[in-house]
Amino acid sequence: MDSRPIGVFDSGMGGLTVLHECLVTLPHEDFVYLGDGARLPYGPRPLVEIRRFAAEIAGYLEQQGVKLIVAACNSATAAALPDLQQLLTVPVIGVLAPEAHAAVLATRNRRIGLLATEATVASGRYPELVRALDAGAEVVSIACPRLVPLIEADGAFGEEIAVAVREYAAPLKDAGVDTVILGCTHYPLIRPVLQRVFGRGVTLVFSAEETAREVAETLERKGIENADSREGAYRFLTTGDPGLFCEMGRRFLQLPIGSAEYVEVATLEAVA
Ligand code: DGL
Repeated sequence: MDSRPIGVFDSGMGGLTVLHECLVTLPHEDFVYLGDGARLPYGPRPLVEIRRFAAEIAGYLEQQGVKLIVAACNSATAAALPDLQQLLTVPVIGVLAPEAHAAVLATRNRRIGLLATEATVASGRYPELVRALDAGAEVVSIACPRLVPLIEADGAFGEEIAVAVREYAAPLKDAGVDTVILGCTHYPLIRPVLQRVFGRGVTLVFSAEETAREVAETLERKGIENADSREGAYRFLTTGDPGLFCEMGRRFLQLPIGSAEYVEVATLEAVA
């Protein structure tokens, strides 16, 4: 038995969709979530910069005494996962491999679409991961720079979101994909729009559930689970405005957020 918390981080609040699944799958574990609101968004940034931010945050969480870290940000996972796994002592789980695996299992025609941030698409990691599982599968990748700002500004229901989704979906529909990886933490919030645009015949793959399953398996295999008779706690850290984090975060977490503690970016930078 291991009573240490699990660390989860993201560029902001999007990773709360992943935390949500972890809290549901592992209600007996404690979690500490860090959102890097001051440096959001990561998606348009160069991979080398995202790699530095991710190393600072994961190093900070390790110093806080977590037993496992979830990089709950597709851009950070795409840019930095191998580096984090080399740098840290605790296990680090990203959100790309579970999704790639689920997509390969789901596709029937072996044509898979990817919607993600510019950084995630630029990294080329999803096609690599898919090809490692099925060398004959094809991945068509589309960067969607407008979606994160629109989801943050409008919630999930603005007309502009539907317009942007139709535009980004068009090349995937033309390519005849039967499975689409939603490779960004924010996209679960617009699932109905996406499913309507793609139609029921296309399987949408999200990382959150798959990632939570991988966290559970890792804890079990390494024998570092907490006692399953207890109810776990969760707390939040942010480099941004704690008030805003609580207010907007509830939409992503779909669970109460009582408070968030402020962490200075300089504190993170001092770790690296
Ligand atoms: N969390 C990021 C991701 O999943 C989306 C927001 C951002 O661009 O920072 O790629």
